[in-house]
This record gives sequence, C-alpha cells and structure tokens, in this order.
Amino acid sequence: MFHHYNKKLKKNAQSHRNNGTKAEVRLWCELLRNKQMLGFSFLRQRPIDNYIADFFCKDLKLIIVADGYSHGIEEIFIKDIEREKRLIELGYTILRFSDKEVMNDINNVGMSIENWINENREKIIPLPPSKGDTVSTESLQISKAVQLLLDGKVVAIPTETVYGLAANALNEDAVSSIFAIKKRPYFDPLIVHIGGENEVVKYASYYPELAQKLAKTFWPGPLTLILPKKELIPDMVTSGLPFVGLRVPNHSLSLQLLKALPFPLAAPSANPFGYVSPTSAKHVADQLGDKIDYILDGGSCEVGIESTIVMFEKNNAPVILRLGGLSVEAIEECIGKVSLNIASYSKPNSPGQLDKHYATRTPLKLVNELDLNTINRALTGAIVFNKPIDNIPIENQRILSKNKSLAEASKNLFSAMRDLDACHLDLILTEMFPQEGLGLAINDRLRRARG
Ligand code: TXA
Ligand code: MG
Repeated sequence: MFHHYNKKLKKNAQSHRNNGTKAEVRLWCELLRNKQMLGFSFLRQRPIDNYIADFFCKDLKLIIVADGYSHGIEEIFIKDIEREKRLIELGYTILRFSDKEVMNDINNVGMSIENWINENREKIIPLPPSKGDTVSTESLQISKAVQLLLDGKVVAIPTETVYGLAANALNEDAVSSIFAIKKRPYFDPLIVHIGGENEVVKYASYYPELAQKLAKTFWPGPLTLILPKKELIPDMVTSGLPFVGLRVPNHSLSLQLLKALPFPLAAPSANPFGYVSPTSAKHVADQLGDKIDYILDGGSCEVGIESTIVMFEKNNAPVILRLGGLSVEAIEECIGKVSLNIASYSKPNSPGQLDKHYATRTPLKLVNELDLNTINRALTGAIVFNKPIDNIPIENQRILSKNKSLAEASKNLFSAMRDLDACHLDLILTEMFPQEGLGLAINDRLRRARG
C-alpha cells in the first residue's frame, strides 16, 4: 500500500517538475538551481513524508513553496495546513512565497531565504566536534566553510596546487588572522582567489590584453596574475604594494565555495611560514589543525607545486616572478617570450620568496656536492626523480616518478619532503631535475629548501 502510494507520489512529482507554475519556474531558474544559496543546494519536487515539496534543501531541512495555499480550494487548503503541521513537527521548516511576491520582487524573496539561512544554519548544522575534522557530504562541507568565512574566520581550502589558508580578502581583521596563524611577516603579500576570470576587473585597475589571454587560457589553473590593484583590496593583503595577485584555483570544492561567497579569498599556502607547502588535508591538520576552525578536505592536490606568478606593470613587458605549476613553455606559447625575474624573490616585488623557504628541518643537500663516503648512510634519505641512489637504504628514499613524468614528480615532491622530514634523519639528498617544463619549478623549490 505504502509502496504504491510512493510510486504515485513520484509520478506526481515528475509531472509537477515538467509543468511548474510560472512562479515556480522563476524561483527555480533564477534563484535556486545551480545557485547554491549561501552554499546550500536545493532539489525540486521532492517527495517528503506524504507531501511533494516544491523546493527542498536536505541539509537545512528547509522546504520552499511558491504559491498561495492550494489555488483557493478550501478542502485542499485545510489538508495542506494539516500536512504542514506534521512536517513542522518532524523538524522541517517551510518558507512560503506567494506567486505575486515571486513574480514582482524575486530579489526580495532571495534575501528572505538568505536571511533565514543565516539566522538558522548554526542551529541546524553543528560545527565539527573536533578541530580539523572532516564531514561526509560535499555540500555540508562547503556550507560549513561558507558559514565560518562569512563570520570572518580562517578556513583551510584545497586547490590544485597546494592547500591555502583562506579568509575574506576584503576584511582586514580576517586577513590579519591569516598572518598570525602562519607567523607570516606582514611584508609578504597574499594571493587573492576569485571564482572566475570575469571578477578580475572588480579588483584590478589595469588588465592588459596579454594578461587576459593568459587568464582565459589557463584559468582555473596554477597561474597567478599580479596586476595594479583597485582601492577595494586592503593594503594588508598586498603588503602595501600597489599590485594585487589574482588567481582562479582549479578545484571543484573551492570553486563552489568562491561562487557561494560574496567576497574573494586571500589565501597563502597553509603551512607555517618558511616550511614546505601542504598538499593534503592531513598535512594542514598536522601543523595548523589546532589553530584553525575548519579544513575543507578536497583530497590530495593534483599539481602539487604553487602557482606560477606573472606580473603585469603598466608600460612594461610581463615578467615571471615565481616558477610554478604552469610551465614557462606553456606561458610563452600563449603570449610569446616572457622574462624571468625570480631573483627579485627576496626583494620588494615578491618578498615571500626568500632564499631559504620551503625548508625541511632536516638539512637538504645536492647529491653531487658531497662525498658520499663521509656520510652516515643509515641516517641519510634521498628525494630522486626515477631511480634510487646506490647504497642509501631504499626505505629512506622517495622516488618521485618511476616513469620520469615531471608532472607526477611535482605532485609528489612536497609530500616526499614532509615524509622524510618526519623520519629523524641527519641528511636528505636531492638531485637536479631536468631543466625544462615543471623541472624548473622543482629545482627552484629544492634550491630554496637547501637555502
Ligand atoms: O598556488 C598558489 O599560489 C598557492 C595556493 C594556495 O593558491 N598560494 C601560494 O601563496 O603559494 P603564498 O602566500 O605561499 O605565496 C604567495 C606569493 C608571495 O610570497 C609573493 O611572492 C607573491 O605571491 N605575491 C602575492 N601578492 C603579490 C603582490 N601583490 N605583488 C607581488 N607578489 C605577490
Ligand atoms: Mg607559501
């Protein structure tokens, strides 16, 4: 009997889905579908109990209805009221908007829904019980992150390069927490993450054609553009420089997050200043788990090395300030020859790139700089491209890519460094990687790690 009933309900839902009223269609198409109100997603014509909800958000137990009571028929009206009472007893909330409201002022309807979510989500979705905890469903994870970021908190977010330590880029208090948690000096500016290329013009006052070409070709992706900034970006974010670093990260969780937020996210790599960047949620939890409210776990980072930074100054040709996950060759194929100024890393333009950076606690040395006969082999590790080094215990070695893929090697580099750093060794040996493609960025990181 119940089964039969459910089947009928499903069929009804299907027909409703196909023949929504004008107001329902408008509410769905302009507000709820794909929009993720503040990070929460809605389903349409969802059977609940013995009722078909017009729009339903599972995480919030929120039903949104888009018509007057049952089109004026009294008998049905009374039934509706009874049904709603029962749903409310079961813990659901029903927000009802008249067709008129929806048709005349959809923005106001959107605001009412957002206000309700803002006032109620904290009661409905508890924060994770222990810091750095992760939860099962994606939308739940995102809505938690949204909630904390709206409150000015710091959240670790996944990107395709490395995990970032994110906060509202337009709120100086929130941004200052990032510096405090990382123990990062204020002279080292933060990259501002945006949800799409179309947002560049909101924050940059100059966006030349070549920069547009790069952005349109490689975003979302491991590329940061440094452009003259608009006032809106606080000086704290750029360390007082008149430029802002902008990037659209290529990770579905963070893209959804950015799209759900009304502001961009300032985010440096989520490691204590000077240490190796994190490429998994666990890396972040290990070092900063007790200092941040939430880690949005998006698995391990596909690229594994930070973004390539390209600077555009008025009246100057573009300059690469940091080698990274997008190769110089790919950039030059897109916009022609570009000069490199990675030496200025320790100077004002890109102060973060101090010579000693990305460092493990265990000293790192280039293998051909040493006489291997003078070292204690049992306490020596190695990070190598595709083949182990003779006479070093194999369990102390990390082969980054058996197939000699530089992309795979980049992906594995930072975890290998962290891994060996935890092995209580005296020394970690490294070798030079091929000086091409991502090999340049790998060599750069290893050189800085050696100091
Ligand atoms: O892949 C990445 O870029 C990662 C992820 C999280 O997006 N972020 C990252 O951030 O590596 P961070 O803070 O570790 O490195 C940012 C560097 C700064 O140290 C500085 O060299 C450069 O970006 N930078 C940022 N804003 C700048 C600005 N306005 N002018 C010059 N350089 C800037
Ligand atoms: Mg960093």
